[in-house]
Amino acid sequence: FSADFAHDRADKEGWPTFMEKEIHEQPAAIAATLAGRCDADGRLALDEVRIPEAILRGADKVVVVACGTAFYAGLVARYAIEHWCRIPVEVELASEFRYRDPVVTEKTLVVAISQSGETMDTIMAIRHAREQGAKVVAIVNTPGSTISRESDAVLLTHAGPEIAVASTKAFTAQITATYILGLYLAQIRGNKFSDEIQDYMDKLALVPDKVQRILDRAESVRQVARTMTGATSVIYLGRHVGYPVALEGALKLKELCYIHAEGFAAGELKHGPIALIDEGQPVIVVVPTPRRPELHRKVLSNIQEVRTRGARTIVVAEEGDSSVDAYSEVVFRIPPAPTLYLPLLDVVPLQLFACELAGAMGHDVDQPRNLAKSVTVE
Ligand code: G6P
Repeated sequence: FSADFAHDRADKEGWPTFMEKEIHEQPAAIAATLAGRCDADGRLALDEVRIPEAILRGADKVVVVACGTAFYAGLVARYAIEHWCRIPVEVELASEFRYRDPVVTEKTLVVAISQSGETMDTIMAIRHAREQGAKVVAIVNTPGSTISRESDAVLLTHAGPEIAVASTKAFTAQITATYILGLYLAQIRGNKFSDEIQDYMDKLALVPDKVQRILDRAESVRQVARTMTGATSVIYLGRHVGYPVALEGALKLKELCYIHAEGFAAGELKHGPIALIDEGQPVIVVVPTPRRPELHRKVLSNIQEVRTRGARTIVVAEEGDSSVDAYSEVVFRIPPAPTLYLPLLDVVPLQLFACELAGAMGHDVDQPRNLAKSVTVE
């Protein structure tokens, strides 16, 4: 049925746009995705598993396939799954995956991430993987969707229906689901004890309240966004888990504001992007926690480098991190959390920023031009 029909049926519940409503539903979406995963002994379970544990234990590689925002959730997943499970993780755009003649065997565990579960490129990627004997785990928001039916295991995101074309709550729910999957694999493969897994899950359970804290301060983000209506290009920088967040922040701006935006790994700045910086160039920087000084100090020096060249620097940084103040026009504050969980927090101000700027520019926030919610053609 058509998107318009879905619009008529769904309710904005007082929010001016579905996107704003969905951004604000993220604490609930993350909490719902986490709910009921751990039994009393701290053992995790997925929704459906038709893969023998021996195969999960013997897997020698994880390959994530996805498109769009779901692909960026996959990039975030790599940090967590490699760290917890000590298994190599590749993250592939579904549309590129099978044409590369990828090395996929019976020992490959493919993870397909998709809000709709109907993205044609992702469907074709998992069909190709299964033909090579790989097992597929689906992380989907739509029970009964093609991708969930054609996979060997399913982990549902419980974000609820997402109506706005640009994905927000599905993204944070997908990232949450990849953490659950990473811990589940760590449990089966013996990398982590039950009490460690319980501890990671307990810390994850604190994230929804932290997201709420960021949403409660949304006004500061909105104010800055409204000053940017004349921007023609915005650069996003991030390092480590902040890198995929920078990519997602830039995608939101392209989708909603039709402004050229590009995310870069902050470490790449000197290898090209810094040539783009001149007077007034907006640069949005996702700053790592000061508790990781080896990452933090490098990104801080990147902010100084672009600032010296006249950039307008807008910074996402941890509460209490005053080292960024002198080099930033505005700082959006993020509550402290374990490094691996920071994308769930860092992305929220970037979503709010793009949403508010699009509104200020007079664009249709929920239905950006030329885009479809679900791309069911190759
Ligand atoms: C389209 C949507 C995006 C989404 C992507 C992947 O491009 O506009 O918001 O991230 O498809 O969709 P999926 O349903 O597979 O997550």
